[in-house]
Amino acid sequence: MPGVSQTSVDEMLRDAEAAAKAKVGGIILFGVPETKDATGSAAWDEKGAVQMGVRALKKEIPELVVITDVCMCEYTDHGHCGVLKNGEVDNDATLELLSRAALSHARAGADIVAPSDMMDGRVGAIRASLDTAGFIDTSILSYAAKYASAYYGPFREAAESAPQTGDRRGYQMDPGNAQEAMREVLADIEEGADAVMVKPAGPYLDIVSRVKAETGYPVAAYQVSGEYAMICAAAERGWIERERVMMESLLGIRRAGADFIVTYFATEAAKQL
Ligand code: PBG
Ligand code: ZN
Repeated sequence: MPGVSQTSVDEMLRDAEAAAKAKVGGIILFGVPETKDATGSAAWDEKGAVQMGVRALKKEIPELVVITDVCMCEYTDHGHCGVLKNGEVDNDATLELLSRAALSHARAGADIVAPSDMMDGRVGAIRASLDTAGFIDTSILSYAAKYASAYYGPFREAAESAPQTGDRRGYQMDPGNAQEAMREVLADIEEGADAVMVKPAGPYLDIVSRVKAETGYPVAAYQVSGEYAMICAAAERGWIERERVMMESLLGIRRAGADFIVTYFATEAAKQL
């Protein structure tokens, strides 16, 4: 993935300092564990990369908002976003594991946890376990409308999280379906999400716009790895102007109604604002 690589906690801190200096509002952490297993148990390891990273960030750059991605696919040896039962993702059995992971992030000091798995009921399950443990101020940004997209390719390669068999169409959404996005978003709000995310962003601006207009809720949009990589690649070939297309792509997402944008261009773009 162009310009993006796995880092140690120390390297991550340097990237985060640059982001904070450029006035990026916050950062999101993804963990890649040393060993993966069937249940993805490294996801709630108190000494895991995300947990250590959050602690270091809160110590070194306390003013920077820290979001953690909560999912199983980086931690399972089969690469699916939940545990498998007879070769299929077991939705309800996964809720407990996601809650454990989210709780370990909250304990480390995360401001916001962001479940990206798309299991049904996970926002409610995570909210309940955070509240029970006293983390009533830890917010949930839910990846509410997450489509089964071909634009996630570069991320999966970088995070070594491609599913070993099958695909994610059983839990991620059908790209042709707009109505389902509204149902998913409303369910997550009902379960206690503090903000909802649409993903990918650029090819789904109609969804960003509808979610904002119909809910009035804080809406995030995630400009994903494929959207980013295509702009980088075309710019490298001299076919487009990197800076201008970068800003225009972000402006379009903002114009559609996103209150904030998750993007690999964040530090670069913030310097231009
Ligand atoms: C984990 C997750 C993915 C992305 C964010 N969280 C991958 C996936 O669902 O396959 C994709 C991010 C990107 O492409 O930039 N579930
Ligand atoms: Zn996942």
